[in-house]
Amino acid sequence: MLEKSLFLLCFSSALAKQLCAPDASDGYKVRLSIRTALGDQAYAWNEDELFLFRATLAFAMRNRISGQQFEVSNIIVCDETPRVSFWFVVTSPSNTSHLVDKEEVEEAIRKSRNRINSAFLLTDKTLEFLGIPPTLAAPVSPDTPPWLIVFGVVMGAVGAGIVVMLAFSVVQKKRKKDGKVVDEAVEEETRAKTTDNGAAGDGVYNMSFSDDERFTEM
Ligand SMILES: *[C@@H]1O[C@H](CO)[C@@H](O)[C@H](O)[C@H]1NC(C)=O
Repeated sequence: MLEKSLFLLCFSSALAKQLCAPDASDGYKVRLSIRTALGDQAYAWNEDELFLFRATLAFAMRNRISGQQFEVSNIIVCDETPRVSFWFVVTSPSNTSHLVDKEEVEEAIRKSRNRINSAFLLTDKTLEFLGIPPTLAAPVSPDTPPWLIVFGVVMGAVGAGIVVMLAFSVVQKKRKKDGKVVDEAVEEETRAKTTDNGAAGDGVYNMSFSDDERFTEM
């Protein structure tokens, strides 16, 4: 009996190790920078801290998938490195040889990100879940009401129309002005021509000269 249970225990732990492996398709890598975050106040990473991590993650999983009693044993950790990083996978409470989908784990982490961070006094930058961008940690998607979208589109179209009309009128004005300039140039040219012709032909009566002449005569 004891042998059997011992064998089962060994077998299950071996199986757990098998389920969790670096680069596992349903696993995530975690990296902690406790010194960077806390400096002199940094705590040492040990088995108890790891237990807290597994418990926090079990909580996050429960928080995400209601009705499934995730336990600490459902969070399997492997490939730990001393400057703290490790991989973990989550097994299903109803079937411990079945891994919970990566997407499900990701959603759980996102939903409880702040709770996980505060459990370890860390931030999105110093407690990294590789492959889960911290920018999406708190997905606060402000629900834009449809009427606002329609309003925005309409206003955008109206604005674009106004700009186009303004540009059109400016272009037209400029074209008109250019036309006027050309007209004026033509007019001036013809005027110059006529005066030239006049000078060459009949001559221009110079009043001041004629006056002078008149006075000298007198
Ligand atoms: C448990 O999960 C494994 C792996 O997904 C699967 O092969 C097996 O059939 C499952 N067992 C039960 C009882 O659902």
